[in-house]
Amino acid sequence: MPTASSTLGPRLECMTLEALEVLREEHRWIVRLLDALERVVAHARRSGRLDAQATVEILALFTHFADGLHQRREESCLFPLLLTRARDVEERLALARLCGQHERERVALRTLCERLLGAIYGAPHDLRVFLHEAEAFLALHRGHVAEEERQLLPHAERLLTAEDDEHLLAGFAALEREGPDPEWIGRRVLGVCERLGLAAHGRGH
Ligand SMILES: [Fe+2]
Ligand SMILES: [Fe+2]
Repeated sequence: MPTASSTLGPRLECMTLEALEVLREEHRWIVRLLDALERVVAHARRSGRLDAQATVEILALFTHFADGLHQRREESCLFPLLLTRARDVEERLALARLCGQHERERVALRTLCERLLGAIYGAPHDLRVFLHEAEAFLALHRGHVAEEERQLLPHAERLLTAEDDEHLLAGFAALEREGPDPEWIGRRVLGVCERLGLAAHGRGH
């Protein structure tokens, strides 16, 4: 089966669209959240204890921002637009594959949330399942963000116009009304990273 990397083609230099920059900035925040989750998982592996305050904040941000607002920007706004511009079946399959990765992330996140209280409490089975699922989630999510950065966003830049950009930004604004101000979300991502002693620019970006 073809992969997104084999179907969305090589990068060309093109215009920068503001909506795609919003997604790129959020990818940087998501990578920082992944670094934060990795940090609490590593600490729990060593100590047998999960940092309750940091983990609750990280899971809230993954649930409502990374796998919430950010995925809705893609699934409700960007992907449908790209589907209308898809030039062949392979481009459609590449978008479907990214949607499938979103779904797998949400399923893994639900498991993490189900085990959270037991893991914080110190129930051995819940903590084991939580850490195992968290490691799988980290790998899945890092691969997904990397694929979108490498293939999806350059592909979108080649296909979309300034008019499309305005359309996407209007859709994004409608989604933002359903939750907290994105700037506050960014500050919270920074806050949890600082609390965990992670460097200002994380390791991924
Ligand atoms: Fe995505
Ligand atoms: Fe994304």
